[in-house]
Amino acid sequence: MKGIVFTEFLEMVEDQFGLETVDDIIEAADLPSDGIYTSVGTYDFNEMVALLQSLSQKTNMSIDDLLYAFGHYLFGSLGKAHPEVIKSYTSPIGLLYSIEDHIHVHVQKLYPDAELPTFNILDKTDTSISMVYVSSRGLYRLAHGLIEKCFEHFNTTSKVTYELLKEDGTEVKFDVVQDGQG
Ligand code: HEM
Repeated sequence: MKGIVFTEFLEMVEDQFGLETVDDIIEAADLPSDGIYTSVGTYDFNEMVALLQSLSQKTNMSIDDLLYAFGHYLFGSLGKAHPEVIKSYTSPIGLLYSIEDHIHVHVQKLYPDAELPTFNILDKTDTSISMVYVSSRGLYRLAHGLIEKCFEHFNTTSKVTYELLKEDGTEVKFDVVQDGQG
């Protein structure tokens, strides 16, 4: 997993729970990297799992809820780090439609060792999109948060529902409908 995901995760923890919590969860997670990340480095996904577990224990929030909150945070971080990747989009549905064939393709060029999910589009209209998230990492609640924040980025809101096609969350169908005018 790319370092930018780790650095932004720890940034979110600092913003929402304070620097002491950052130190505490790094210590509790007992990480090979000692919690020292650079945004362009690549680290074992298990370190993210360990950090999420220790944050979950400390805050009594579920890992799923933490991932969802992190998705909201991460959309802004990725947009700030790589404005050129999202600036050509004029609508949230258009952006979501392009993750697989454009956005993450570009990301893979920026970070050749990035491990990205797959989004298969099932259906799209001007105000809705259905797609299947596929990833061995099962970060579908992160995807949920990213999708919602994408609408906020365009000053609109959405209703996002999802259905686990595989129990472990490695295949999840999303139905996304834009609210109001947009
Ligand atoms: C990773 C979804 C937009 C860059 C991921 C992951 C998800 C995801 C769920 C975690 C990996 C996994 O699940 O296997 C989405 C969604 C987006 C979006 C739903 C739009 C709403 C973007 C944009 C950028 C970006 C705009 C960059 C400008 C990345 C990077 C990673 C990533 C760098 C980390 C890869 C790694 O850890 O190796 N994306 N993404 N994504 N995405 Fe996206």
